[in-house]
Amino acid sequence: MAIKFSTTFLLRKLHQLTGIVPLGIFFFVHIFTNSTAMNGAANFNKHVQDIHDIPYLLLIEIFGVFLPLLFHSIYGVLISAEAKPNAFTYSYERNWFYILQRATGIFLFLFLLFHILNFRFGLLPGLNQTPVAGHASEAFSIVSREFQMVGIMILYILGVVATAWHLAYGFFLFAVDWGIVIGENAQKLTLKACLGLALLLSVVGINAAVSFIRPCGIFPQALCEAPKAAATTAPAQTKF
Ligand code: HEM
Repeated sequence: MAIKFSTTFLLRKLHQLTGIVPLGIFFFVHIFTNSTAMNGAANFNKHVQDIHDIPYLLLIEIFGVFLPLLFHSIYGVLISAEAKPNAFTYSYERNWFYILQRATGIFLFLFLLFHILNFRFGLLPGLNQTPVAGHASEAFSIVSREFQMVGIMILYILGVVATAWHLAYGFFLFAVDWGIVIGENAQKLTLKACLGLALLLSVVGINAAVSFIRPCGIFPQALCEAPKAAATTAPAQTKF
């Protein structure tokens, strides 16, 4: 009998766990570091440098980010291929969420491949050729130069929103599947909280992206500490 990846118990649990523990935590840290761009280039570069000063960083990256991401993505694509969407038969919102979870997963697989090769390794011909690793003092200008391109900015906004949704709805699925939230009302409430979290993470992520082309991002500049530093170090404003 053929193996069904979507019902292989241990792999399935490991898939859910890798989504929450290393990858979920990584995303919160990453969105925080990116948000420091609100307060200017020097501030963002300093935070990137602080990360690069962590001892054994490469090992932490390999075991804490790259391997869990590889497993989570490949297994996610396999179970998406076995998906049986029924949103057209049953119009319950959770059937649509089921499709959206798989669609965002496949999009994120491609987006993250692009993103990591581009910024972490500087390996995309025609785009950025300077890896952020080892060039922390140039981190802001590397990202800012790319985000001047409207197509790249739109791609990143989609990437941030897809990640926010995928992670927040992933929290809901995890809580239900691991028996943390059992009753019907508790599940409805948790779903609302997770949708709220998706919205919050989307706004924070979009603001972080916009901060690379406009001091203080989408917020009034009076709210930021050192917006002028960003304005002087970043290239001219984009024609957005
Ligand atoms: C505002 C949008 C974003 C910006 C400005 C941004 C910026 C960066 C930069 C500069 C790096 C290289 C870091 C380094 O080498 O130290 C990086 C790496 C990375 N980013 Fe993002 N990113 C964004 C969105 C995302 C999203 C939505 C995800 C989804 C989870 C993500 C996942 C990653 C991963 C997995 C790495 C590799 C981490 C590592 O090297 O350990 N990023 N990002």
